[in-house]
Amino acid sequence: MRLIRFHTYGGPEVLTLDRAPVPAPGEGELLVKVSAIGVTLPVVRLTRGVPDGTGVPLPHVPGGDVVGTVASVGAGVTGYAVGDRVAALAFTGAYAEYVVVPAAFAAPVPDGITDESAVHLVRGGQVALGVLRASGLQDGESVLVTAAAGGVGHLAVQLAAVAGAGRVVAAIGPTAASTKAAALRSLGVDEVVTYEELSAGRAGQVDVVLDGVGGDVQRACLASLAPLGRLVAFSGAGVTVDVNELRMHARTIIGFAMAHHAGGRRETYARHRRELWDLSLEGRLRPLVHDVLPLERACEAHRIVEGRGNVGRVLLRPGARC
Ligand SMILES: NC(=O)c1ccc[n+]([C@@H]2O[C@H](COP(=O)([O-])OP(=O)(O)OC[C@H]3O[C@@H](n4cnc5c(N)ncnc54)[C@H](OP(=O)(O)O)[C@@H]3O)[C@@H](O)[C@H]2O)c1
Repeated sequence: MRLIRFHTYGGPEVLTLDRAPVPAPGEGELLVKVSAIGVTLPVVRLTRGVPDGTGVPLPHVPGGDVVGTVASVGAGVTGYAVGDRVAALAFTGAYAEYVVVPAAFAAPVPDGITDESAVHLVRGGQVALGVLRASGLQDGESVLVTAAAGGVGHLAVQLAAVAGAGRVVAAIGPTAASTKAAALRSLGVDEVVTYEELSAGRAGQVDVVLDGVGGDVQRACLASLAPLGRLVAFSGAGVTVDVNELRMHARTIIGFAMAHHAGGRRETYARHRRELWDLSLEGRLRPLVHDVLPLERACEAHRIVEGRGNVGRVLLRPGARC
């Protein structure tokens, strides 16, 4: 089968098209013939290793969010048959024609949900709904979402509105700002601000922040929180905070990590998945696809995401041709 891997750390150019035997599923696993792969920022960052030169073991086939059909079922797995359409989280091996996934991180895709929607919802949707619920949003409260045009962000702004937010503010970076702003307005957000405008206080005060950026943007988000406001931090880039500052303004910071949510709250995770399927089937949640590229063009997909220009998710399709 064809697959993409990197043999050295570096930018998107380290991704190379290779060939390898189709893997076999072990106990508790499924072999999935991949139809679409979601390209995500945390995975894109992996090619660069970490500053001390260590990172994932090499060579590495990137993981990701996948949708496809079951090609074979490993020992001990019940409830799946060859040919079933599934969406799954693959921690490695996703950039390939076939991937082995733990059955525990897969789910059947209902009829009526497209591959594109399924690949968005299996993780991006779960993160967006997970952070929203973690914020404890009350009816009528205002919500600010950063990286709002990204794979998670554009779903979070829609879910906030569905959940009864009074005012939804989308915050975006400078790259492709006008395209991002137009797309976000078409999804129903009330206001769009750039990070520069956010830092200047133009978002006003908000009750809830869902922050997928961190750093200076997170500082500006904290300063925008109204008394009793909650900020859910879900990016890898945090800031140092003065707890007494939090106390004085009665602000709360909540951390969210999908691994704990998916692994430690299985029932909530399954319920959220059903909610996401339903909202998508009802047309109340509209995943945006920035671009669909063939597997061979994974390097270009990574460049788009690193360049911060994507509006919605960038997808790879092993079946597509260059
Ligand atoms: N905690 C968790 O479990 C969890 C799970 C999944 C994702 N995440 C985090 O959620 C965030 C969004 O992920 P995603 O999958 O939605 O990404 P994505 O669709 O690939 O979105 C990329 C967008 O994120 C924004 N961004 C913020 N910081 C960036 C940076 N340092 N480099 C490049 N782009 C950056 C950019 O938009 P702007 O320029 O408009 O900001 C960019 O267009 C990421 O920080 C990711 O690590 C966390």
